Amino acid sequence: MLGAGYLGATHAACLASLGLRVHAVDVDAGRVAMLASGRAPFHEPGLDALLAEGVSSGRLTFGTDLHVAAETADVHFVCVGTPPSADGHLDLSALWQLVDDLGPLLREPCLVVGKSTVPVGTAARVRDRLRGLAPAGGDVAVAWNPEFLREGHGVADSLRPERLVLGVEGRHADQQLRALYHPLVAAGVPVVSTDLQTAELSKVSANAMLAGRISMVNAFAEVCETTGADIGDLVTVLGLDSRIGPDFLSPGLGFGGSCLPKDTRGLVAQGEDLGLPCVARLWRQVDAVNQHQRERTVALAEELLGGRCADRRVTVLGAAFKAGSDDVRDSPALDVAGRLHDLGAAVCVYDPAATAAARRARPDLHYALDVLTACRGSELVLVLTDWDEFRLLDPVAVGEVVAVPRVLDGRLLLDPDKWQRAGWQLRALGRAIG
Ligand code: UDX
Repeated sequence: MLGAGYLGATHAACLASLGLRVHAVDVDAGRVAMLASGRAPFHEPGLDALLAEGVSSGRLTFGTDLHVAAETADVHFVCVGTPPSADGHLDLSALWQLVDDLGPLLREPCLVVGKSTVPVGTAARVRDRLRGLAPAGGDVAVAWNPEFLREGHGVADSLRPERLVLGVEGRHADQQLRALYHPLVAAGVPVVSTDLQTAELSKVSANAMLAGRISMVNAFAEVCETTGADIGDLVTVLGLDSRIGPDFLSPGLGFGGSCLPKDTRGLVAQGEDLGLPCVARLWRQVDAVNQHQRERTVALAEELLGGRCADRRVTVLGAAFKAGSDDVRDSPALDVAGRLHDLGAAVCVYDPAATAAARRARPDLHYALDVLTACRGSELVLVLTDWDEFRLLDPVAVGEVVAVPRVLDGRLLLDPDKWQRAGWQLRALGRAIG
C-alpha cells in the first residue's frame, strides 16, 4: 500500500483482514509508528480493532522505505492524496513523485493499482511513465480500482462494498484483482470490469451525482422557504418515488468534506480542459448552490441578530463536515462559524468529535467542551452538523443557559413544535417563518 492516509490505512487493514500480507509505506514516520502500534491516527469506527489484529498476526506491517514494498509485493496499491488546488484541478504532485520513486525499483513483473482520485487519462500516463522508468518495462501493468469509502463507514464500505470497479487492460490484471478480492467476490459483491478511463471517471461521477442531489434538494428548500411549502414533506414525497429513492436528500447547509466539493470542482476543471463548456457549467452551478447555503445561513444569522453581528455572542453546534467524523476539511459548519467571527461575532463552537481538528484549522474561534458551556450567555445558537446529540437536545435545559432563546437549525434536526413550546424563536433553512 503506497500511502497510508485515510484511504491507504483503511484499505491495508481491510486487505490484511481478508488474509493477505500487506506492507504499507508512508513518508510520515509519526503516522507509520502509530499505525504500526495498531492505532489509527484518525477517527474511524472499527479500524483500530482491524489494525491491531493485522499487526499482531504479522500480516500487516508499516514502514517508510519504498524499497521494501517495491521488492516484495506483487501488487502495489497507489493511495497517495490528490488534494484540490485553488483552480479546481487536482494536485497530482504526490502521485508523480511516487511514480518517479517507484518506477526505477520495479525489476519484476507486477501490477500497480491506482486507488487515488484522478482526472480521466491519468492512469494511462502513469502506465507509460512507470514503464519508461522500470527495469521490468512492459511487464509492469497498471489498473485503476477506485474506492467509494464514506468517512465513518470506511471499514464496512471496504469489506462489504456495493460494487468493485476494476479498470484493467487485459485478462491477467482482471484475474489478479478478482483473486485478490476473492472473499468479496465470493460473497456476491458485484464486479464491474472496465477500461482505465471508465474506472477513473466512476469515482468522480458517483460523488458528483451525490453532490448534485444535495444541491437540487437545497434549491427546492429555498423555494419552500419562500413559498411556505414544507421541505420535509417534499423530501418524503420525492424519496417514495422508487426512481429517485430517499438517500442523499437531506436538505440544509450543504456538502463538505474531502471528496464531494473536490470532485464537483474537478469536473468543472475537466469540462473546461476537454472543451465541454456545458459540462463545466452544470457542475459549477452545483458548487454555486452549495456555497449559497453557507452565504444564506450567515445572512439569516445576521437577520436574526437584528442586522449586526459585531460583538454578539453566538454558539455554533457542530464543526465536523458531517456527523460521525472528526474531519473539518471544507466543513460547512466551520466555514459559517468562521464567517460569523469575521463579521465580528464572538463565536463559541462545540463539536462532539472534531474540536481538536477545528482548533487547528481555526485557532481564532472559541471552543467549549460541552453544549451547555458553549450556549451559556449566547444570543443565537446555530445547529450546523447533523450529530444525534443535537437532535436530542433538551430545549428547556439549553433555554436556561442562553441569553436569548433563538436558534437557527441549519440541518433540519430540531422538532420545531418542541422548541417553540419551550419558548424558542426557531428558524430553519428550508422552512418559512412559522
Ligand atoms: C463521500 C462519498 O459518499 C463516498 O462514496 C466517497 O468515497 C467519498 O465521499 P464522505 O465525504 O465521507 O463520502 O461523506 P458523505 O456521507 O457522502 O457526505 C458528504 C457531505 O454531504 C457531508 O457534508 C454531508 O453532511 C452532506 N450531505 C449528505 C447532505 O448535506 N445531505 C445529504 O442528504 C447527505
